[in-house]
Amino acid sequence: MNILAVESSCDETAVAVVRDGRTVLSDCIASQVELHRLYGGVVPELASRKHIEAIYALADESLAQAGLTRADLDAVAVTYAPGLIGALLVGVNFAKAAALSLGLPLVPVHHIRGHIAANYLAYPDLEPPFVCLVVSGGHTLIVDVEDYTCFHILGSTRDDAAGECFDKIARVIGMPYPGGAALDRRSAGGDDRKYTMPHPHLSGNPLDMSFSGLKTAAINLIHTAEQRMETLDIPSLCASCAAAVSNVLVPRAMQALAQTGRRTLAAAGGVAANSRIRADLQNACAQAGIRLCMPPLSLCGDNGAMIGAQGYYEYLAGKRAGSDLNAFATMSLEKG
Ligand code: KG4
Ligand code: ZN
Repeated sequence: MNILAVESSCDETAVAVVRDGRTVLSDCIASQVELHRLYGGVVPELASRKHIEAIYALADESLAQAGLTRADLDAVAVTYAPGLIGALLVGVNFAKAAALSLGLPLVPVHHIRGHIAANYLAYPDLEPPFVCLVVSGGHTLIVDVEDYTCFHILGSTRDDAAGECFDKIARVIGMPYPGGAALDRRSAGGDDRKYTMPHPHLSGNPLDMSFSGLKTAAINLIHTAEQRMETLDIPSLCASCAAAVSNVLVPRAMQALAQTGRRTLAAAGGVAANSRIRADLQNACAQAGIRLCMPPLSLCGDNGAMIGAQGYYEYLAGKRAGSDLNAFATMSLEKG
């Protein structure tokens, strides 16, 4: 089954063709990062306009790269939530038009479910159940993936997402948007214990997380140094921040495995590209005898292939949308 998959929830326009949920035939992405960099963050209005300029040509390119024609497609999958509403609507409307004109079923896909499904592309034998650590620019969740379309949230951030925390700190250091990957690169060779970062103490669910205290502490440290005209050791500051974020995420992911009895941990989302988090997950899972799945960096960030992978399983579960499909800025992963 060949699915044309469309993703436009934030600042990447992406169209892919995925076969049977597991094989990527093409995965085309038009990134808007350079445009939004001028403003230090995503400008929603500009994102929508860029999506509409890019999406038609990108779909043609994706079909051509897959070596297919429109007649070879069996369904259209599209991200319909969560994300920037104007941006989502571009993809949703394009997918509706494609499905209607080609007489194909339309399958709505939750963006975070798509991030989790990136693991099915990277690990062809991976099947639920497993625990997934979802770390993106807007979401930080520990999820029990009970089945392909059945999710239970075990813990989530109470304030900022991990990616947001990295991006804000990077911005104050002076790195261009989105700073997460740049902060990661600058942490190479740094001393991760040079700067003391706070550990969040939360009451209630032990799998819940918090990153706003860490973000504020790092920003205060940078401003104080500026006022005192002191020079900071940037690689060590970046390494200390990455270690602090990882120390929130990794022990909780391991605790979630113990709590559920699952033997596999998957990672998903843009922040899953972080080298410190990847190394810590590898060590913790090796020690605990847990199978670890981490998609390659190209499948961690937003892409169309992940929507095609999840779209296949949503299709098998009977999920369909009509021409009245709407987009939603927020939506629970569990309801998705
Ligand atoms: O999943 P994603 O592409 O978009 C959302 O759905 O939010 O995640 C984007 C986030 C940004 O905050 C970006 O800075 C962060 O992922 N990111 C990283 C790294 N690469 C991307 N954060 C830390 N280390 C990285 N290597
Ligand atoms: Zn994403």
